[in-house]
Amino acid sequence: MEGGYPPVPVPGIVSETDGTSVRLRPVAEPDLAMFRRFCTEPGLVGLDWGGFRDPGAPVRRFAADGWLGEDDGRLVVEAGTDATAAGFVSYRAGRYAPSATYWEIGIALLPQWRGRGVGWRAQALLCDYLFAHTPVQRIQAGTHPENIPEQRALEKAGFRLEGVIRACEFRAGRWRDGHLYSRLRDDPSPWE
Ligand SMILES: CC(C)(COP(=O)(O)OP(=O)(O)OC[C@H]1O[C@@H](n2cnc3c(N)ncnc32)[C@H](O)[C@@H]1OP(=O)(O)O)[C@@H](O)C(=O)NCCC(=O)NCCS
Repeated sequence: MEGGYPPVPVPGIVSETDGTSVRLRPVAEPDLAMFRRFCTEPGLVGLDWGGFRDPGAPVRRFAADGWLGEDDGRLVVEAGTDATAAGFVSYRAGRYAPSATYWEIGIALLPQWRGRGVGWRAQALLCDYLFAHTPVQRIQAGTHPENIPEQRALEKAGFRLEGVIRACEFRAGRWRDGHLYSRLRDDPSPWE
């Protein structure tokens, strides 16, 4: 066998379905310009825009751990035929009880990549990746009542709506409700 070792399955990295190619990979130095844009371009990140953020933070975080921390991290979403960064997915650890940890995931695509089937696939890939490499039973994601694209993308990625979290975020001048979604390890896979 070429390379001298058997191929190792790598869940959660690549999706090639219905002519759409989406890949997740670690952050690399050339991606830092995109992360700086998300810090300083009003609204580029979408409804989660909370004002200007320190544009030096991405460089420091990348230098510290490549944005691959034990408790939180980011992966770049690549789409299309080259290695262009279409945006990123994120994960952060949470805990409901001492032995009940979960991941909360997030996503932001650059505007030109939205509405092209990349968002649901990237979040489905991230679930595969986290379920493959960590023992959590639960992955959750919150979104805004008016964020119909993300609600649909989460549902297509195998998530279910759990309910409304009242006044959970201060955004655009007032406290607002959020919609909480989850996907459990045993829930049906969106790929099947
Ligand atoms: C939200 C986001 C991740 C969704 O990803 P996306 O690639 O745009 O969505 P997809 O193309 O995978 O579409 C998923 C579903 O949403 C639907 N959808 C996408 N954009 C839509 C829109 N503007 N209005 C209504 N439905 C939309 C799609 O039609 C599809 O459903 P369908 O198969 O039933 O038709 C992406 O738009 C984005 O990054 N937005 C800005 C950041 C953001 O809002 N992040 C989430 C914060 S909670």
